[in-house]
Amino acid sequence: MKCFELVQRILEDTYASIPGDDDQRMQLVEEALATLATRYNGDVDMVGGLDFDNPVTRFAYVCCYLPAHAHWIYELVQWSRAAQACLARSKVRIACIGGGPGSDLLGILKYLGYRGSSPPALFCEIVDGSLEWKQTWSDLAFSMKWPPRLNTDFVVHPIGSGREWRDPDRFDKADLITINFFFSEIAHLEDAADAYITRLFRRIKPGAIVLFNDNDDPRCYTRFDALALRVGMETLSSNSGTRKAYDQAEQVNELGVFRTKFAKYSPRLTGQVAWRVLRKG
Ligand SMILES: C[S@@+](CC[C@H](N)C(=O)[O-])C[C@H]1O[C@@H](n2cnc3c(N)ncnc32)[C@H](O)[C@@H]1O
Repeated sequence: MKCFELVQRILEDTYASIPGDDDQRMQLVEEALATLATRYNGDVDMVGGLDFDNPVTRFAYVCCYLPAHAHWIYELVQWSRAAQACLARSKVRIACIGGGPGSDLLGILKYLGYRGSSPPALFCEIVDGSLEWKQTWSDLAFSMKWPPRLNTDFVVHPIGSGREWRDPDRFDKADLITINFFFSEIAHLEDAADAYITRLFRRIKPGAIVLFNDNDDPRCYTRFDALALRVGMETLSSNSGTRKAYDQAEQVNELGVFRTKFAKYSPRLTGQVAWRVLRKG
């Protein structure tokens, strides 16, 4: 499965839903791309406030960030025997915390696609504060050629709203949990962010594996590490460095017309990333 190719099909579908004529759409998307680039520039983002409820922001995010973020989850699974053992079972429950458009799940599906042997039956909760991502995910899922034993549920947990746990979830049953470029997004919410992650860690079952990628910013990962330590999570792997978002199969040109249309803002292909693989003790 090639993320850029998949994303291109989504962009085609969703671009048309942005209001206005082509010039107006291009201007709106360019503004959103500029805002995202400024916010994520230097791989530091601790202030929050991006409006993912806005379709233009979501379009810009899918265009520039989704393929890299999916690829980095794929890579983390490739590097982790514990995650691979988890995905070797016949049935696997996954929770993608802050999973937005489904990037994290795409990364896992990419791993399973390359692994080749018969994939497990998957049940995945995509958990996010913005319900609007549900449409992006359903369009993505519709474009995929994937065996039918994949069930997804969208769980809305708007952290910092006081309603974060109102939607029921099955975190207690999850085998594999992803927290992908999410902690930096909620870190500005301070106690609410810490309380959410702490409660998540407390609720997951012994043996559950957590995959974490985020910006290589100590303000983000030292706090995350402290939360994990406090609830007794075992660190299986902890590192940081430059990550690349492409392999031989992934060709950014597969974004087609959108590659040239928004050439000034090319998709994210590298990043300074901190990553962790944790296991609940
Ligand atoms: C940088 S995106 C990461 C999405 C996905 N994991 C990825 O790597 O592509 C951050 C996600 O956090 C979600 N988010 C931001 N603030 C939030 C909040 N207060 N509560 C819940 N989700 C939030 C956004 O909707 C978005 O999907």
